[in-house]
Amino acid sequence: MTSAFDWQGSVGRNWATEWRRTDTSFSDLTPHLLKAVEAESATRIVDIGCGAGEVAIAVACARPQVRVTGADISPDLILAADQRGSGIANLSFVLADASQWSDPDGAPDLIISRHGVMFFADPPAAFAHLAAVASARARMVFTCFRAPAQNEWATAIAGLLPPTEAAASSPFAPGPFAFADPEHVQRCMAGWRDVTFTPVDFTYVAGEGDDPVGEAMALFHRIGPSAFAMRTLPEAERAAFEKRLLELVEAHYDGTRVAFGAAAWLVTASSDHSHG
Ligand SMILES: C[S@@+](CC[C@H](N)C(=O)[O-])C[C@H]1O[C@@H](n2cnc3c(N)ncnc32)[C@H](O)[C@@H]1O
Repeated sequence: MTSAFDWQGSVGRNWATEWRRTDTSFSDLTPHLLKAVEAESATRIVDIGCGAGEVAIAVACARPQVRVTGADISPDLILAADQRGSGIANLSFVLADASQWSDPDGAPDLIISRHGVMFFADPPAAFAHLAAVASARARMVFTCFRAPAQNEWATAIAGLLPPTEAAASSPFAPGPFAFADPEHVQRCMAGWRDVTFTPVDFTYVAGEGDDPVGEAMALFHRIGPSAFAMRTLPEAERAAFEKRLLELVEAHYDGTRVAFGAAAWLVTASSDHSHG
């Protein structure tokens, strides 16, 4: 479970410090999302849970005539996004809870997100709000993880954790896998219709560059379930966990990068208001 409170605090801070590495981890998925976004017509785009802004920046640069706003609940991530995106005239970032925020400059006709919509405490209320503040003909395009069992990076790390650390909470609790089940996502997407799910299998790149193993270890120290374990395990268990993590990372080093299998949904939908 990753709550709004976590994102506003230490989790958001770690993602802000690690944005180069988290962007790398998604680098094989991002082109699929950008291609789907490119296929949509739009005059105002909002990126929900924009994080450090990579997707919003790419979209704003590709479509200079379109106004792009990235919204995120983490002050640290909005600061990072602002710094990265400064000087791009058609781009802005706003610190906001997207489940309650509306853009004072006008209703978006395209809402996008890379893995940013699975963390709402009350998803149907949040999606109904997004539909209400978007234009009547709005479209939505986002990605989210499929089931943990299809995400090798997650199962491999869960396999290293002591049983209590790996204990599952509700599969629908806000978190990276909350939107794994399409039927659940359909139920959550109040105010949206014609919801489509396209499976995208991709490589989760945990590390690359001059020191891929070191990069992957740095990522896993700060991001995801391994970071949580590192913070919460007793000292004696932590050292053993770290050793197993290093062995796992080394086993996934293919000579160029540290790579794990990953699986996402690419989801599209239309505002239900366009019917009314
Ligand atoms: C997994 S991260 C993805 C970040 C970014 N889209 C990316 O791909 O790098 C999820 C993001 O959703 C943001 N988030 C969570 N709940 C939110 C909410 N209610 N409103 C706005 N942003 C939220 C978090 O702060 C975080 O930046």
